[in-house]
Amino acid sequence: MRAIQIAELDGPRAAKLVEIDEPAADENSVLVEVHAAGVAFPDALQSRGLYQYKPEMPYTPSAEVAGVVRSAPDGAHVRPGDRVAGLTMLCGAMAEVVALQPERVFPLPDSVSFEAGAGILFNDLTVQFALRERGRLAQGETVLVHGAAGGIGTSTLRLAPAFGAGRTIAVVSTEDKADVARAAGATDVVLADGFKDAVKELTGGRGVDIVVDPVGGDRFTDSLRSLAPGGRLLVVGFTGGDIPTVKVNRLLLNNVDAVGVGWGAWTMTHPGYLQQQWAELEPLLAAGTVAAPEPVVYPLERAAEAIASLEDRSARGKVVVAIR
Ligand SMILES: NC(=O)c1ccc[n+]([C@@H]2O[C@H](COP(=O)([O-])OP(=O)(O)OC[C@H]3O[C@@H](n4cnc5c(N)ncnc54)[C@H](OP(=O)(O)O)[C@@H]3O)[C@@H](O)[C@H]2O)c1
Repeated sequence: MRAIQIAELDGPRAAKLVEIDEPAADENSVLVEVHAAGVAFPDALQSRGLYQYKPEMPYTPSAEVAGVVRSAPDGAHVRPGDRVAGLTMLCGAMAEVVALQPERVFPLPDSVSFEAGAGILFNDLTVQFALRERGRLAQGETVLVHGAAGGIGTSTLRLAPAFGAGRTIAVVSTEDKADVARAAGATDVVLADGFKDAVKELTGGRGVDIVVDPVGGDRFTDSLRSLAPGGRLLVVGFTGGDIPTVKVNRLLLNNVDAVGVGWGAWTMTHPGYLQQQWAELEPLLAAGTVAAPEPVVYPLERAAEAIASLEDRSARGKVVVAIR
């Protein structure tokens, strides 16, 4: 089968199209004929050996697919011919066929294309976990999200209103990324440079209830300062490069929380959680209450460019690679 492979940890450009053997069917796996695979920031980090999960070399990148079930174990919740999305966690997805654990396979609503479907799981399930489980989002609250034109960012803008947010404030680095955030549903958009003062003005001095932060770096302290009393800063990632430190007196003085969001680790220690998440999200997607992502789609031959677009910050919204 055709697949993307990375044989040297030289960055995204090392991703090459190769022929490798298909995975064999066994009684414990669902085989999926992959139509599209999602790209996320960990794919860029992994290609330089900088991500916490280090696959055996050479490896196939990407953690999420959408496609059609070729075979499934007896009694599984999906059957041959079903349209599905699936998680390989945390590599292996950019290939024509993947073998998935049944609990990581999710029926895809007919209204959602394979390309959109390949862009849902990694970000939306993280954001759902962040807002609902860790962030305790309540009805009518205001959610600010950094990196708002990125994968986690657009996912937050699509999901937060469905989970009760009354307002979303998107933080982006450029005006053209502001358009992406608006298209994903942002109520307000502000530039990263000077965002604290802009947020203060937008909220009449009160601040926001939740900050979703996939960026980290030097904006962390201003994010804490932007929280209303009782607010929660959700630590999702560090695309900005630096892992910030926090002076905990800030938490005490303003009654705010800095909350870790490690979705992958949570799913490992909470069997059944992924299917529970999908049971909540799938009807929202099927009904259109949560819009499906509208990803930028690259052909398989240009997978290296797709991954590089996240590293060089040129990506707009979710990025997906078409496999067949
Ligand atoms: N905790 C979890 O469970 C979990 C799960 C999934 C992903 N993540 C993490 O979430 C983060 C975001 O992932 P993603 O797939 O949404 O990435 P993405 O699509 O590339 O978006 C990241 C955003 O970060 C901003 N950014 C700021 N400084 C940057 C820099 N130096 N280089 C690149 N981007 C920079 C960019 O927005 P501006 O240009 O507008 O600033 C960009 O749009 C990653 O760190 C990822 O590992 C965590």
